[in-house]
Amino acid sequence: MATIIQNGLLVTASEIFQADIKIENGKISIIADQIGSKNEDTVIDATDKYVLPGLIDPHTHLGIEGTLDDFESGSKAAASGGVTTIINFTEPDNSQTYLEDLTEWRAKAKNSIIDYGFHSIINKCNPEVIEQIAKLPDEGVTSIKLFMAYEENMVNDKEMYLLLKAAKKAGIVTNVHAENGNLIDLLIEEALRKNNTKPIYHAYTRPPSMEAEATARALRIAEVAEAPIYIVHISCEEALTEFTRAKERGVIAFGETCPQYLVLDEDYLKTEDKEAVKYICSPPLRTKKDQEVIWSKIKSGSISTIGSDHASHPFVNGKENGINDFTKAPNGLPGIESTLLLLYQYGVYEGRITLPKLVEITSQNPAKIFGLYPKKGSLNIGSDGDIVIFDPNKSTVISKETQKQGTEYNVYEGINVHGRIDCVLSRGQVIVEDKEVVGKAGHGEYLYRNRFTSYSHEGSL
Ligand code: URP
Ligand code: ZN
Ligand code: ZN
Repeated sequence: MATIIQNGLLVTASEIFQADIKIENGKISIIADQIGSKNEDTVIDATDKYVLPGLIDPHTHLGIEGTLDDFESGSKAAASGGVTTIINFTEPDNSQTYLEDLTEWRAKAKNSIIDYGFHSIINKCNPEVIEQIAKLPDEGVTSIKLFMAYEENMVNDKEMYLLLKAAKKAGIVTNVHAENGNLIDLLIEEALRKNNTKPIYHAYTRPPSMEAEATARALRIAEVAEAPIYIVHISCEEALTEFTRAKERGVIAFGETCPQYLVLDEDYLKTEDKEAVKYICSPPLRTKKDQEVIWSKIKSGSISTIGSDHASHPFVNGKENGINDFTKAPNGLPGIESTLLLLYQYGVYEGRITLPKLVEITSQNPAKIFGLYPKKGSLNIGSDGDIVIFDPNKSTVISKETQKQGTEYNVYEGINVHGRIDCVLSRGQVIVEDKEVVGKAGHGEYLYRNRFTSYSHEGSL
């Protein structure tokens, strides 16, 4: 039995064209002008609708203690937003090895309804750690993440250099959270001493200069280590200036931003504190000018990917703890299900990027960088039948009333966007239909990702 999507407008990273598409045994088997069907086939009519490759969200934090989305609820939310693959972060547990962390996280993820992989967070450096890094690709993990901020996890420059070298040798790409944590901690102490505790001081104590400095330093260290580097959640013009310079020097660097840095700004942190505290994330929300600079860097190809950085901290017993002291609010925003809708509205509909560009940054590029291409990230013969059918003639209101993610709030509450996600398929099986998630827990498969290779950074990447 096959699934055939008829009369749709197929969107790839390079073109939009009318065609039918057939999926057999989970994989795309034919793309042609017209594909006939047999009685037993599932036929989906996509007249006047776009047919896109499923999104790959390369930056999610499902399953974190104290958050509201485990892999089942979080993957259902993701699927409802057209995401068919996630790459989630592990969390280091200092009583065990990183390989043991991975085993634990794989077990946590077995109820996912969409396919998944992991980036291993590495928070120390010694000879045993270097040995473990060398073994990660055999377990399907070909990316790690290092922090330059957050005392419990951050590594110093020397450690970063050694870890980048070890990663490169193993065929691993290194994600870096680039903020100068030491100085930020000092700025926070100063703010608290002056009783500057409102949510907006979260942004004032993590200024763009501290993101730019760390970004420049990480890129220089990667340059010396001759290692590929991926800067996560870039939020501001200053960091992008450093990033673009490094790319021009020939550093193998990839940049990611998040919908929140394109759609929300620091004014949200200045609203009534009860509301403002919901918007605490790191790096913090920036200005409208930063948003436009980020869009221009997406358009020019400097920024390669979009990650949601989904972290579903509750308001009650979570975010609310920071109302009178911003340092007590957990960092991170929920948003795993809104990426496609927001990028379509603010990017494509408002004329900042084309639809093929949207496909490039949400699907093709993350697949290439993180060792999933061409299994994922494209509408090619032989690729997995991970597909979104998107109706540009309908609209959607983003709201906590209709969201699938677990939080009691939605940081995009009330935003009315053009476009509606009609149907989502994972490996040929319908997992979202008429706004309902019909995919089954456990349908998702663990992805053994390929090592980082030179083809990963071909073209506009
Ligand atoms: O504020 C954020 N981004 N929290 C999630 C953890 C991280 O730094 O990615
Ligand atoms: Zn981070
Ligand atoms: Zn994150």
